[in-house]
Amino acid sequence: MAKYLVTSALPYANGPIHFGHVAGAYLPADIYVRYLRMRGHQVLYVCGTDEHGVAITLRAEQEGIGYRESVDRWHAEIRRLFDRFGIEFDIFSGTARCPFHAQASQRFFRVLLEAGWIHDRVEEQWYSPAADRFLPDRYLQGICPECGHEQARGDECPACGAWIDARRLGDPISLIDGSKPILRETRHWYLDLPGLRAAGLDRWLQGADEERPHLTWKPNVEGHVQAMLADLQERPITRDLPWGVPVPADLPGAEGKVLYVWFDAPIGYISATMEWAAAQGEPEAWRDWWQDPQTHLVHFIGKDNIAFHLVVFPAMLLGQGDAWEGRRFVLPYNVPANEFYNLQGRKFSTSGGWYLDNEDFFSRYSADAARFHLALTAPETADSEFTWQGFQTTNNSLLADKLGNFASRVLKFAGRRFENRVPAATGDLAGHPALAEADERLGEVGDRLSRNELRKAAQALIAGCDALNRFFDSLAPWKLAKSEEQADRERCAGAIERCLAYLELLSRRLRPFCPAAAAELRTMLGRAAAQEGGLVWGEEGAGRPPAPLAAGAELGEARVLFRKIDDETIAEEIARLEARASS
Ligand code: 2FM
Ligand code: ZN
Repeated sequence: MAKYLVTSALPYANGPIHFGHVAGAYLPADIYVRYLRMRGHQVLYVCGTDEHGVAITLRAEQEGIGYRESVDRWHAEIRRLFDRFGIEFDIFSGTARCPFHAQASQRFFRVLLEAGWIHDRVEEQWYSPAADRFLPDRYLQGICPECGHEQARGDECPACGAWIDARRLGDPISLIDGSKPILRETRHWYLDLPGLRAAGLDRWLQGADEERPHLTWKPNVEGHVQAMLADLQERPITRDLPWGVPVPADLPGAEGKVLYVWFDAPIGYISATMEWAAAQGEPEAWRDWWQDPQTHLVHFIGKDNIAFHLVVFPAMLLGQGDAWEGRRFVLPYNVPANEFYNLQGRKFSTSGGWYLDNEDFFSRYSADAARFHLALTAPETADSEFTWQGFQTTNNSLLADKLGNFASRVLKFAGRRFENRVPAATGDLAGHPALAEADERLGEVGDRLSRNELRKAAQALIAGCDALNRFFDSLAPWKLAKSEEQADRERCAGAIERCLAYLELLSRRLRPFCPAAAAELRTMLGRAAAQEGGLVWGEEGAGRPPAPLAAGAELGEARVLFRKIDDETIAEEIARLEARASS
């Protein structure tokens, strides 16, 4: 049994999140966590909202409300969507609401300062004479010095994910009033990334640190990291802003300065864990996750967050040394970063009307169908997209026709012919080629999930259903049942016993993807799904068919697992989306 600390990127509490976010950083983590738990690992899954920085102040200023009021509103809204999707965190906190956050962030800052990894100096920053204020981060827009994207922000480029030095932004304008800013001197604190790189970050990134070996990074992760390392500079980690974690007040020049949001946000993973531990009545238990070399720390993020999770945050963790009561922080074990997820050929855009209305969606369709479809089309190695037609195909042709139909034909048959009880097993079907194929494919689901290959995991599950449907068809139990031969009737019983045993296995393989449908399937299986000692993943796979079920166990009632969606409904959805975008 191993220990996994899983995080998903803290979404900014400045607007609704959409299916694209869910497909990129939340659903893959939720599926992974459910899978790991079924395998018996010790898992903690933490998240919350990112509530500081210019993303927040700009939004609240546009809304004409206070910063706290704004983040409270969006925190609640974001949480609602996660609930709708069945994403279950151990804690969902937020950087402005967590009672441990400011103190933890300031301690991180102070340790780095005292260790010599943070220096203060006076440098020029963009300033708006018209608004009489500095223009940090998203208050500025200009041309990305890395990729030429024209709407890069003052700190990050949404197109290539580069962490930008605002002074290198081409043709900057103020997003407050469109005016041209000027450079003016101000004091800030700078994180010595080149120094931290030499002090251990490089060794870790290259996997050379024996204490913290990591998996091979995904190619997209490696590419971003190399680009950032090629030009690694000291970076300012404080800002002139009225909202955020204050720079420790005893430092000269700290007044009016807060920590840069990308400095405090990842500490949000740690402070949320502290909050979770306190709620368990064991305030020190957060250390068992963050400061235990056995912990596998896994960050699920979108590709625009790679630089911060692979370079900046690990450097901050390394730089803590043993200043926290002699215990060092773990570094990430894996960072499965996904590409972007679009909608019908275009980027999701709340302001442009190009999105799925979350309330509407879940009033009509099941979360499980959405989860399975997002897994099947996850943006793992390239950008991918949600299309309504694709969703219909997944729901109708895969979930309803292959999985739901197999369950319903087997259970109805058992209901009619075997008094709704598990018939007696016969050993002679074990080598059937369709069952061997089902073993192979259902065994593959776990291998794929452990490598965060959701698409292939979902495909393997469906391929397993295909094989089981072929098994049912090739045995034709409806003919065997009517035969005069006793041997045929026994073979029929044996075939149905195998189908029920595989349905029970399917319910376990389905569970990380579709928890509600998996639970429903287990209810349909009644006593045949009674398992001692909790619901475990099990070792079934190639060469290991599911064990025989207890003969005579009473089954439940067959129900529809996935309702079909008709063509008209899909056409209406597309028309609604296009009308919203053009209004
Ligand atoms: O890009 C974003 O949406 C950021 N709010 C992600 C932060 S992840 C973490 F480090 F907090
Ligand atoms: Zn760029």
